[in-house]
Amino acid sequence: METPDKRLRIHRGDITRLDIDAIVNAANETLLGGGGVDGAIHRAAGPELLAYCRTLGGCPTGEARMTPGFHLPARYILHTVGPIWQGGGHDEAHLLAGCYRACLALAESRGLRHLAFPAISCGIYGYPWEAAATIAIATCREGLERNPTLEHVLLVAFSDEMADLYHRLLKE
Ligand code: APR
Repeated sequence: METPDKRLRIHRGDITRLDIDAIVNAANETLLGGGGVDGAIHRAAGPELLAYCRTLGGCPTGEARMTPGFHLPARYILHTVGPIWQGGGHDEAHLLAGCYRACLALAESRGLRHLAFPAISCGIYGYPWEAAATIAIATCREGLERNPTLEHVLLVAFSDEMADLYHRLLKE
């Protein structure tokens, strides 16, 4: 078994194209789609995803819900709702860590081997990137240490700047 650090990797690209067990969606509490990665995932998965999400009754911030991947190459989607950045005094760090932990717990309960995260809350929800990436790395390392079944976690960067930030923080 590789060390947790070797099992945590940075992927520069489009999360909707990953042919792995599950990709994480940075959704909103309605789970009925949106812009950003949420919009890209719904477009790629097809209309059955929205129909399925309508049956879930939404998802509170900091939690996660699992759906099939439908027309995505990924088998499953773990929808999680990150905190909207409001300056740091509204429990944002705890809620963001909760998103990663909830997805890692779902992956463990379902015996998933590969999981990919977008940079949750780092787009429309305005979370400062360095603070968010630090939380992502710490919680994913925790999840990999506790769950040997999880072979790889990918942190997907949609820009070179985000990829560089992840790589820099992984080395620290
Ligand atoms: N693949 C990987 N990452 C992507 C993709 C993609 N196809 N598209 C966007 N991203 C990146 C963004 O560049 C950003 O770094 O995902 C990260 C999260 O950004 P958003 O998608 O804006 O998500 P978030 O900031 O969590 O805001 C969530 O936006 O789309 C709505 O319905 C969603 O209301 C919710 C809010």
